[in-house]
Amino acid sequence: MTPFSIVVAMDQNRGIGRDGKLPWYLKCDLKHFKEITTQTRDQNKHNAVIMGRKTWDSLPAQFRPLPKRVNVVITRNANLQFPQDVLRVNGLEQALDLFAKGALSKIIESVYVIGGAQIFEQAIVRKECRKIYLTQILHSFDCDTFFPPFVDYFQHEAGSPRYVENEISYLFAEYSRKAGV
Ligand SMILES: NC(=O)c1ccc[n+]([C@@H]2O[C@H](COP(=O)([O-])OP(=O)(O)OC[C@H]3O[C@@H](n4cnc5c(N)ncnc54)[C@H](OP(=O)(O)O)[C@@H]3O)[C@@H](O)[C@H]2O)c1
Repeated sequence: MTPFSIVVAMDQNRGIGRDGKLPWYLKCDLKHFKEITTQTRDQNKHNAVIMGRKTWDSLPAQFRPLPKRVNVVITRNANLQFPQDVLRVNGLEQALDLFAKGALSKIIESVYVIGGAQIFEQAIVRKECRKIYLTQILHSFDCDTFFPPFVDYFQHEAGSPRYVENEISYLFAEYSRKAGV
C-alpha cells in the first residue's frame, strides 16, 4: 500500500479546468504546487507525481516532465510515447504499485496525485489517499472539469490567510482523511 496525497486548485464550484487547461493563472499557486511536490526531508530522495494523460498533455512542453520529480502518466493507450524517465502506467493501481516495493520505493519520499478530474475521482475513494493540499480559489470560473465531492471523506485541518493575485482571492488549505472512511 502506497500512501499518497492530492494536490489541487479549485474554484468555489469545485471547478478545476476548462478546454484542457487551467482556467486561471496564479503564479504563487504554481510556486506552492512546485514546493509541495518537489521538497523532500531527505536530500537523497525525490517525490513522485502521478497524473492522467490529459493533464500531461496540458503541461507546457518546456515544463514537462516536471523537473526533480518522478513523473508517472496514466493512459489506456500502450502505444503512447513519453520522454525518457517518464513512467507510463495503465491505471492508478499500477502507478501506486511502482512505489510499494522495489528500487523506486527506496528513492521516493512522497507520492502526489496531481490530476485531472478522472484521476482525482479514482484517487479520493482510496484509503491510501491521506491528504489533500487544496488551493481554494474564492471565485467562480467557467469550468468544464470538476473535482469530486470530498467532504464526506476528508476534514479540514489547516488554512492560510487569504492572498490576492490578479484580483483573485485564494487560500491554501489542508484536508486529512477522516478515520474509518
Ligand atoms: N486545477 C487543478 O489543480 C488541475 C490539476 C490537474 C488537471 N487540471 C485540469 O483538468 C483537466 C484534465 O482532467 P481530465 O479529467 O479531463 O483528464 P485526466 O484525468 O488528466 O486524464 C484522463 C486520461 O487519463 C487516462 N485514464 C483515466 N482513467 C484511467 C484508467 N482507469 N485506466 C487507464 N487510464 C485512465 C485516460 O488516458 P487515455 O485517453 O490516454 O487512455 C484518460 O483520457 C484539464 O483542464 C487540466 O488543466 C486541473
